Amino acid sequence: MLPNTLFVGQQLYYLPVCESTNSEAQQLLIKNKATEGCTVLTSEQTKGRGQRGNTWEAEPGKNITLSVILSPVFLPVRQQFYLNMAVSLAVLDLLHEYGATAARVKWPNDLYFKDKKLGGILIENSINSHTLQHSIIGIGLNINQLNFDVDTATSLSAITGTTIHLEEVTSRLLELLEKRYLELRNARHAKLKYEYLQALYRYQEVHQFIVDGKRTEGCIVGVDEDGRLGVQLDGELRFFGFKEITYII
Ligand code: BTN
Repeated sequence: MLPNTLFVGQQLYYLPVCESTNSEAQQLLIKNKATEGCTVLTSEQTKGRGQRGNTWEAEPGKNITLSVILSPVFLPVRQQFYLNMAVSLAVLDLLHEYGATAARVKWPNDLYFKDKKLGGILIENSINSHTLQHSIIGIGLNINQLNFDVDTATSLSAITGTTIHLEEVTSRLLELLEKRYLELRNARHAKLKYEYLQALYRYQEVHQFIVDGKRTEGCIVGVDEDGRLGVQLDGELRFFGFKEITYII
């Protein structure tokens, strides 16, 4: 598999089984064995990691499970959420291209189709004074898996009713990731933010959330520079960090 890219996926490590591609990528960085765009790909993770300390489970051989090492040294730490937006949009571009046109990004960077999750992103950054040094972009995307332990999960194949060529879709993802990353590198911040908001799950709709331990109704109106979610609640605009708000789905 060789994606049509300048650097993303040009250095490729395929491991049939590993604990976590993010952890493998971290090891490559420590050993100085990675150039920008270096990608670690696996068919099976035994200790896949998700956001907020969760685990990431996926049926072996059926899904995309990879990590890409980037060096966004041009990005001030304060603006790191733009990287989340660029990566989320790249995965969304892929889903749209493959026919899941109703796919959306659930803030901050889960991939949803209607009310079901079909993918997630785990970005781990290392920081050098005021800018990012390295980012490990971990992407887990359900492609051909049809059976799930929970009924809140789905896959591209379940949505489109077709079996997808795994190598081809992985290669395309790497191309789209590079494209969005180059937009970020070229400081297309306004474009990325606009498109992210347009693609945001439940954007500008009234839904229920749990805030301060209570169920309340609110309307997502945006994200601020720090990536916090802006929600209009009872006539008051509030901004929430990662663990401060829960969607009721
Ligand atoms: C989430 O939704 O919580 C994020 C899931 C991220 C999973 C991917 S799979 C490839 C990479 N390696 C990991 O251990 N996690 C990420």
